[in-house]
Amino acid sequence: MSIWSPTSWREKSILQQPTYPNQDELKKVLSELKEYPPLVFAGEARSLKEQLAEVSKGKAFLLQGGDCAESFSEFHAINIRDTFKAILQMSVVMTYAGGLPVVKVGRLGGQFAKPRSSDAETINGITLDSYRGDIINGVEFTPEDRIPDPKRMIKAYNQSAATLNLLRAFASGGLADLHQVHKWTLDFAHKGEISQKFEDLAEDIGKSLKFMEACGITSKTYRTLRETDFYTSHEALLLPYEEAFTRKDSLTGEWYDTSAHMLWIGDRTRGLEDAHVEYMRGIKNPIGIKAGPSMQTDDLVKLVNRLNPENEAGRLNIIVRMGADKVGDGMPKLIRAIEKEGMNVVWSCDPMHGNTIKSSNNFKTRPVGAVLTEMKQFFQVHKSEGTFAGGVHLEMTGKNVTECIGGSFVVTEEDLSSRYHTHCDPRLNADQALELAFLIADTLKDAQK
Ligand code: PEP
Ligand code: CO
Repeated sequence: MSIWSPTSWREKSILQQPTYPNQDELKKVLSELKEYPPLVFAGEARSLKEQLAEVSKGKAFLLQGGDCAESFSEFHAINIRDTFKAILQMSVVMTYAGGLPVVKVGRLGGQFAKPRSSDAETINGITLDSYRGDIINGVEFTPEDRIPDPKRMIKAYNQSAATLNLLRAFASGGLADLHQVHKWTLDFAHKGEISQKFEDLAEDIGKSLKFMEACGITSKTYRTLRETDFYTSHEALLLPYEEAFTRKDSLTGEWYDTSAHMLWIGDRTRGLEDAHVEYMRGIKNPIGIKAGPSMQTDDLVKLVNRLNPENEAGRLNIIVRMGADKVGDGMPKLIRAIEKEGMNVVWSCDPMHGNTIKSSNNFKTRPVGAVLTEMKQFFQVHKSEGTFAGGVHLEMTGKNVTECIGGSFVVTEEDLSSRYHTHCDPRLNADQALELAFLIADTLKDAQK
């Protein structure tokens, strides 16, 4: 293998990158970013890796969720708070009803760059560059907005820093205290079977906390009752940006990408000899790799060898995103190949990206039924292979959006136009995400019987 460096990816072929018209500006921005403080500390990435090692042994469950694409226009404390609350709600359901600790990782605080199926978009005979995420260009269909602008990286960094700051404050400043479990319900949550199930669970937790208090176990005495660990992640797509945040850890002398705790490689950029795999092999963070229906077993084994040559537990997360109709056939052979090699990985299920459809009124949407089915199948396959279904990777928001159809509070095709706010793919709203959390909790509970 050739020697890795934070810039060695530049020698490889690369997909899904913008062409910046102003190269001088690009250089200026990148040298500025190189001087900016890191967003996370290497020691935190190591803690996450340790927790993911527990996930790989079936002793914890990974919940990774957040926006498909964060945007400059939706940057607001309320949005960050509500997504955080929705993740807390899901996590308490899985921990209390499912009986496993939950490792919480947001698709937040840096999830700005998007791979696209086409480089250009044509509307009414006009063709412009595709939108590639707010860190690159603008979503408006105008020539000005679609020009890649390096200065957007600085704005994305600042937004990530402020988002992370608030998340850290929420995680340790009181909002995540288990005694607040009733307050995690979002104002707009629909009243019904799912919200009642959550209220019942919150009641039970309240009773347990009272009992524990009587035994001297309180938020004051136990940090884990009043605080939580919350990590950030994004797709490491825009490599010049990631390179600028690749720093040598002063404690270990190893390289970390300090733009997030965890990074992943998308399904479109996972070529073994390509730039993204080259970059990711050298950083020590926990990393993910998406596996869509086109993933071949040989290629997966080669990728795992390349990305985790020391077979370190907690280092590598295979995020399977095949679609409800394909996962049952597509995943067993991948699992068998990995098991045969004795490779330590975390398997998680992204039930979103293989289930995207166009509604009859032309919205990109996802049927919640298909999302639930893929999740169930993912669990079933792991059960029959004797491996651990380690986690879930979701596009979701705490906002009251109507982007995915179905769910127990049925969002119909007609509803899609009322609150369709996503800058990229359709997200589960908080009701739909909570429904999924109960399904996961029930399955986890059964698996432990
Ligand atoms: C995503 O996670 O938003 C994404 C583009 O996924 P994938 O690479 O699996 O298509
Ligand atoms: Co997406």
